[in-house]
Amino acid sequence: MKAIVYTEYGAPEVLQLKEVEKPTPKDNEILLKIKATAANSGDWRLRKADPFAVRLIFGLLKPKINILGSVFSGEVESIGKNVTLFKVGDEVFGHTDMTFGAYAAYKCLSENGSLALKPNNISHEGAAVIPFGGTTAWHFIKKANISKGQKVLIYGASGAVGSAAVQIAKALGAYVTGVCSTKNMDLVKSLGADAVLDYTQEDFTQNGETYDVIFDSVNKISVSRSLKSLHKKGVLILSAAGMAEMMQGMWASMTSQKTILTGVISHQAEDILFLKELIETGKMKPVIDRTYLLEELAQAHAYIEKGHKKGNVAIKVA
Ligand SMILES: NC(=O)c1ccc[n+]([C@@H]2O[C@H](COP(=O)([O-])OP(=O)(O)OC[C@H]3O[C@@H](n4cnc5c(N)ncnc54)[C@H](OP(=O)(O)O)[C@@H]3O)[C@@H](O)[C@H]2O)c1
Repeated sequence: MKAIVYTEYGAPEVLQLKEVEKPTPKDNEILLKIKATAANSGDWRLRKADPFAVRLIFGLLKPKINILGSVFSGEVESIGKNVTLFKVGDEVFGHTDMTFGAYAAYKCLSENGSLALKPNNISHEGAAVIPFGGTTAWHFIKKANISKGQKVLIYGASGAVGSAAVQIAKALGAYVTGVCSTKNMDLVKSLGADAVLDYTQEDFTQNGETYDVIFDSVNKISVSRSLKSLHKKGVLILSAAGMAEMMQGMWASMTSQKTILTGVISHQAEDILFLKELIETGKMKPVIDRTYLLEELAQAHAYIEKGHKKGNVAIKVA
């Protein structure tokens, strides 16, 4: 089968189209024929080993996992003998968790992994771009216990995580303020944000407003400034924090009544089912900036690495 393989950390060109062996499902696995995947911030960070800590988990000198890609949408081609949750022909979407390998024509997945039947009202490309930003946003929104009427500010509202966070917070009944650059204001408004601030024109920490929850999805604003715009018992989400911001967050948690949420996310099938429900009820829609073919993955990575995509970049596989 065809796959995009990388054997060394580096520039987008390390992503090479190769023929590799087609996998065979174990007894508890499905074999998925992948129709679409996505190029995400997590993928380019692993490709480049940025931050350096990537090397401590994924291989010090060279990557231990050679096929990236953490999200998928496709069709079940065959199943292991103990599989009961899915059948041949089912269309499913989801997240590979830490196994990656979705930059390929086929992938074996445990039937108990982070996957669910694909929503009928969107394409495979649409379904594939939902789980990365969607599960990240939902992981933190769940922990922050965002509820009806709360004032929530999403910083980085046009990115993969931010655009999902706006839609999920809105679906839960929050009053959502999205912060993005001028060119993305219409997009963020169209996702349901009640107010949109342009970070190139206005500094939200200076306008006197305070929020129940501030969700910084891009790590482009200092923790101390965000904390000043948070209610006394508010929640600050730092989903893209580096080590320094995590330490500042811990300190703020210890010395105030504010809660700081950060760290690497985890997810399960129920999170994918939650996103499926939002899509099927029209409360969430995929945001696709560009679509590339699997063979063009290096180009897709060069684009997403600039950090200014609108929502997501889909990859058509079959
Ligand atoms: N905790 C976890 O487990 C986890 C999971 C997923 C992702 N992440 C991290 O979260 C971060 C965001 O991921 P993503 O996939 O959403 O990224 P993305 O889709 O590339 O979006 C980045 C966003 O940043 C905005 N931006 C760029 N410069 C900015 C600035 N100076 N001020 C304000 N906004 C700015 C861009 O908007 P404009 O074009 O309008 O500037 C864009 O919408 C990444 O660093 C990723 O590694 C962490």
